[in-house]
Amino acid sequence: MNLSTNNNIETRITYQGPIERVVVQFAMRAEAEPLIEKFELSFYSLVDRLPHLLFAKGKVGNIELHVVTHGTDARYEVDRVGTENATLAAFKAIEIAQPHLIINAGTAGGFKLQGAAIADVYISSGIVFHDHRIPLGAYREYGNGNFPVAYAPHMIDAISLKSGVVSTGNSLDVLPADFEQFRHSKAAVKDMEAAAVAQVAFDQGVPCLAIKAVTDLVDEPCNVGEIFLKNLSQASTALTEKLSRIIGVLAQGARLESL
Ligand code: ADE
Repeated sequence: MNLSTNNNIETRITYQGPIERVVVQFAMRAEAEPLIEKFELSFYSLVDRLPHLLFAKGKVGNIELHVVTHGTDARYEVDRVGTENATLAAFKAIEIAQPHLIINAGTAGGFKLQGAAIADVYISSGIVFHDHRIPLGAYREYGNGNFPVAYAPHMIDAISLKSGVVSTGNSLDVLPADFEQFRHSKAAVKDMEAAAVAQVAFDQGVPCLAIKAVTDLVDEPCNVGEIFLKNLSQASTALTEKLSRIIGVLAQGARLESL
């Protein structure tokens, strides 16, 4: 696994040893549950002021695997999707698990223009924001984020993943201004969490990557909510299959640079 060199993450990541602790972060419980069941992880929650965050952990081969989900919103009884919750969950998960790698996993809208199809599974080649438009000097690039990602070329081949830029924003639907950003970043998929997780990971010196399964096509006119729900199960199955294989590789004992 290489670290993309569009930023100076190398100076922040000091750990050179084997990957022994891994966090997989999901926004939605339905996305996480198949993995939790497969690896027979045990649930736990925090007794401090973040009881909605749901954690599960267990030993898988050579690694301690932690799964964190954003939990349920107490008022609206839906999963706490989006960047604010992603930031909080990533920060807390890193504090608790001290991972050598954090993977933001979940579903995403894909771009047909970049070759995406329903239930394709992508690994991030880059992670950006598309709804932080700040046309003011260096704030423009700050807004875009363009976070360094851990990149695993051997894993892409071995596990048959697609690779592309993940673009994050807080809306399920899209505005014309978003399409400008997608064109600029050559986004392959659009989600609602990856860039927030990548920012926390960067700040904390933890290598990060995103694995996203496509539920809908952003550049095909549709009712995104309906199509998302229709394809959620198929995409979650594909996501779990690829994540299981990734965890299988990590569980055998791996270092960042060998992936
Ligand atoms: N997750 C699944 N589909 C999505 C989309 N179109 N936009 C953002 N997040 C998604």
